[in-house]
Amino acid sequence: MKILFKNIKELLQVRTETVPFVAGQDMKTLPTIKEAFLIVDNGLIADFGTMNECPEGDFNQVIDCTGKMVLPAWCDSHTHLVYAGNRESEFVDRIHGLTYEEIANRGGGILNSAKVLQETSENDLYDQSKVRLEEVIRLGTGAVEIKSGYGLTVEAELKMLRVIKRLQENYPVEIKATLLGAHAIPAAYRQNKEAFLDMVINELIPKVAEENLADYIDVFCETGYFSVDDTDRILEVGKQYGLIPKIHVNQFTAIGGVQVGVKHKALSVDHLEEMRDEDIETLKGTQTMPVALPGCSFFLGIPYTPARKLMDAGLPLALATDYNPGSAPSGNMNFVVSAACVKMSMTPEEAINAATVNGAYAMGLQNKVGSITKGKLANLIVTKPINSYGFIPYAFGDNQVETVFIRGEAIK
Ligand code: NIG
Ligand code: FE
Repeated sequence: MKILFKNIKELLQVRTETVPFVAGQDMKTLPTIKEAFLIVDNGLIADFGTMNECPEGDFNQVIDCTGKMVLPAWCDSHTHLVYAGNRESEFVDRIHGLTYEEIANRGGGILNSAKVLQETSENDLYDQSKVRLEEVIRLGTGAVEIKSGYGLTVEAELKMLRVIKRLQENYPVEIKATLLGAHAIPAAYRQNKEAFLDMVINELIPKVAEENLADYIDVFCETGYFSVDDTDRILEVGKQYGLIPKIHVNQFTAIGGVQVGVKHKALSVDHLEEMRDEDIETLKGTQTMPVALPGCSFFLGIPYTPARKLMDAGLPLALATDYNPGSAPSGNMNFVVSAACVKMSMTPEEAINAATVNGAYAMGLQNKVGSITKGKLANLIVTKPINSYGFIPYAFGDNQVETVFIRGEAIK
């Protein structure tokens, strides 16, 4: 199957060589080709260039993109989109004045989602989750990381990870699975966190590794959840089982999560709403990708990750949705890109780099997706006719996605 996309108004994120990620000043540049063509062969990007060098040839399909732009599908490197039920009642409680922390302390929050998930069958959980996955694909996401973390028991965590595995088997998008065994301390372990950690370390991690259900390991390193020492222990054991860290740090408090992540060569450290100068210093010169989740800041009314400070310090930055029932009930990367520009003063170039190339890196998928590069998967967004790519973040709350192609096939 050979497809020619012709008369593309602008082809975005064109990289002749795969770059692992873009950082600092380089994020200001979004390489593009105006009046472009793109050839997809067997689901892969085969060729591209300007229209005046567009080859004649035998194509199974020719798609005229006059007035439209083509870019790599979004790479959403942080989601919890496998979950059961929703938490809109807690959302209303927050409008009435309760804080996220107060709700969690009353047994709401993650514990609420865990209770519902434990009572939900694997098939039901799959059915609820696939609706969200299909929705985000239609919104332009072509690669996504999904975490466990609402199980809080060995059995329920395995159920979540098996659902992620079924999604991997049944959908053409790239999906990476992360074990988030230490997401909250269940009520029964409140007085005995050690016993819970023992369960995660001695039972859950080995079992998940044995069944090969996860690529990455995560911990919610936060005051009232898991300390830096807890995180250190879990990551150490995860490493022995081949699980690379991608961790939740600095969401509400800066307690050294960035440092423990970097110590364990985390692929990414995510959230970063609370950043001290020393946290920025720690990240310099490392291979750890900082990930901002502006949907969570928007929904909880907490600070946004200081993107400018990070990029001005020469660091890279990725953007992701954090799609989950408590702090970010939206998997819309178009909104995330908008919010990054509006609330974090990222330019459209920086935001698109953060949501494609850098997002791919934060999932270990930089050789497969995230840019228009020969040999990469043809996971693409064809936009509606637009005047310039700045219109993508500008038209917030809407999206400019006309058609999504995954491995060269249009998603219906
Ligand atoms: O990334 N911070 C920890 N975990 C999720 C939210 C969990 C929830 O409220 O359900 C997050 O924000
Ligand atoms: Fe999260």
